[in-house]
Amino acid sequence: MSPIPSVELRVYPDDCDSFGHVNQATFLRLFERARWEAVAMGPGIDLFKKHDAWPAVRKTTIEYYAEAFPGDVLCFETDLKHIGTTSFSLNSIARRRSDEVVVAEAELVFVCMNRHGKPTKVPTELSRFISAAKPPRPSQIQRVDVRGVETGVDIRGDGPVILFVHGFPLDRTMWQEILPSIRGWRRVAPDLRGLGRSGGQTNAYSMADYADDLASLLDFLDCNKAVVCGLSMGGYVAFEFLRRHRDRVKGLMLLNTRAEADTDEGRRSRDELIAMVTNDGVNSLSDVFLPKLLAPGSADVMPTVVEKLKEILSVQSKEGVVGALEAMKNRVDSTPTLATIEVPTLVVAGEKDQLITIEATRSMASAIPGAQFTIIPDAGHLTPLEQPVALGRVLMEFLGVFD
Ligand code: MLT
Repeated sequence: MSPIPSVELRVYPDDCDSFGHVNQATFLRLFERARWEAVAMGPGIDLFKKHDAWPAVRKTTIEYYAEAFPGDVLCFETDLKHIGTTSFSLNSIARRRSDEVVVAEAELVFVCMNRHGKPTKVPTELSRFISAAKPPRPSQIQRVDVRGVETGVDIRGDGPVILFVHGFPLDRTMWQEILPSIRGWRRVAPDLRGLGRSGGQTNAYSMADYADDLASLLDFLDCNKAVVCGLSMGGYVAFEFLRRHRDRVKGLMLLNTRAEADTDEGRRSRDELIAMVTNDGVNSLSDVFLPKLLAPGSADVMPTVVEKLKEILSVQSKEGVVGALEAMKNRVDSTPTLATIEVPTLVVAGEKDQLITIEATRSMASAIPGAQFTIIPDAGHLTPLEQPVALGRVLMEFLGVFD
């Protein structure tokens, strides 16, 4: 079954009010029109009649983030958020096609009713339509020689540089949904050595290797200082980068990460994972690791994200994964580094992160002078994949400190 199609609608002067921009009430109509258009492109607009089940809207929440003017083309993308027996909720965003800015976001809760006005089961055809996985956005790649290692890097836009450093066992493509929403910056998302499309698969890395690779990548970009945005393992790399190349850090965005080194028990678990990956291959991580990356229950309603994670795992090499596990196992405690941070810093936690609690992240943030701390609702450990719109807004807001 195909996913809910994206729908493009053009803004016309009669959609706009005396300010000359799309009126808030019109947005409600445009969201509705886009949903109907998607149904028409999918199972057909007789779907509800056919099954005697009409989704009645129980609640609508719309947030407006930017203006839209006559001539703008808005692309409406809709995803399933939750599905129950008789109800479901959808999240829709309206993205301006010209610059990919999200201008509005709507969340709707529906209850399916029959012709007698009684709640009825969500028809299977509808549930299949709204739960089908979407193809991920295309990723971009350039090959750069970084300290003798051919490194895959996604480089977009112009402006001051942000380095996006991925988590484990992932690669640059985990930033795919976030990169378009960061405007006015040069976004640079490398595959750390041994992972994704980067070479150097020797299975013995350290945080220092990764950090020095980033410094060398900045040299290649002719960039003196960058904002470093690291998720989880990417945060461990950011701390090491700060210690080794402090004068090259303009700011920090630390997502779903921690400062402490592994405990003895944590090191033993790393050894178990190393043995498992060595004996059974990288895909064996799928069952033990992937369920913990998302918020509880998210895997059921985010088939695209689950597919994406499996796809990322399928391209990882054994050596690169073992190398990363070794680097994490042997990393030093970054807690003493926190008080020495003098650049603007944002710390982000996922409300339902199963690997790093909100409390742990909050206490890390409070140890960093002047750090901002934000919790992303309805997200687990992978905020950029689970809540890209909300996270993109939080990052853009924080980046305002550099204006
Ligand atoms: C990550 O997401 O990068 C990992 O969960 C970090 C870790 O295993 O410590």
